[in-house]
Amino acid sequence: MLTAYLNGSFLPLEAASISVMDRGFLFGDGVYEVIPVYAGKLFRLEQHLQRLQNSLDGVRIGNPLKPAAWRTLLEDLVSRNSGSDQAVYLQVTRGVAPKRDHAFPVDTRPTVFAMSNPLPASRDVAAEPGIHAITLPDIRWQHCNIKAITLLPNVILRQQAVEADTAEAILIRDGYVTEGAASNIFIVHNGILVTPPKGPALLPGITRDLIIELAAGNAVPCREGDITVAELHAASEIWLTSSTREISPVVHLDDEAVGDGRPGPAWKHMTALFQAYKSAIRKGAAA
Ligand code: PDD
Repeated sequence: MLTAYLNGSFLPLEAASISVMDRGFLFGDGVYEVIPVYAGKLFRLEQHLQRLQNSLDGVRIGNPLKPAAWRTLLEDLVSRNSGSDQAVYLQVTRGVAPKRDHAFPVDTRPTVFAMSNPLPASRDVAAEPGIHAITLPDIRWQHCNIKAITLLPNVILRQQAVEADTAEAILIRDGYVTEGAASNIFIVHNGILVTPPKGPALLPGITRDLIIELAAGNAVPCREGDITVAELHAASEIWLTSSTREISPVVHLDDEAVGDGRPGPAWKHMTALFQAYKSAIRKGAAA
């Protein structure tokens, strides 16, 4: 049985409920985070809490908790849920208002909800088949750096990908790659790892940042730069990155194989570095 947190209490997930007048329910007026947990340890919590603060600032919701209180709450949630590897989901909405009105209500208390779901304990990297993806026009708003719960475009884009028998949609805006429907994108272009630069067009992924850090620390050539559709299609490797998918190699894009149609050598190298980093976290030697 999964345990959730709602507005100050821990309770069984099925028992957690909110008012239909919650702004999150009526307007999608809230923000969220997804934080992986390895061996019971919250991965890059400080960075996730900083991104949460940025999202809250971006939509003008006051942060209901200080970082230390978030840590206590989330560590408590993790210990109440079984499985040493988990994905914590948290969301903060603008709260419950007496009537439906687009403008911000006065004096509402944000709703704080968190739950945790088990993650598979290990991945068989050698057996990774890779995933298929399609490109689609990026139909989202202009503040994609805010991790808003208002995910209707992302939901529609991911569904289109699934209906095309693929696992993710890679989004294109004005001729450039932005990100996936729920992931960031890296390509290997002329032997160099490239990912689109941070800005309002994409979510600043915590996994993305770690990959850039690991590349810098291990002499892997990597740069942040625009990726055209032509460069995407010419890439020898394409990866999707996220807290739940880690680094997933795309082996097929829009009816064409990527490279030789199998996960590539740069992906194998980065995945080994990523898994080593996770092992250090498990042993308490990294954060
Ligand atoms: N999504 N871009 C988008 C649009 C995302 O939704 C996500 C993650 C990412 C990757 O960010 P990170 O590496 O910090 O997980 C990029 C989460 C996992 C989700 O919505 O479930």
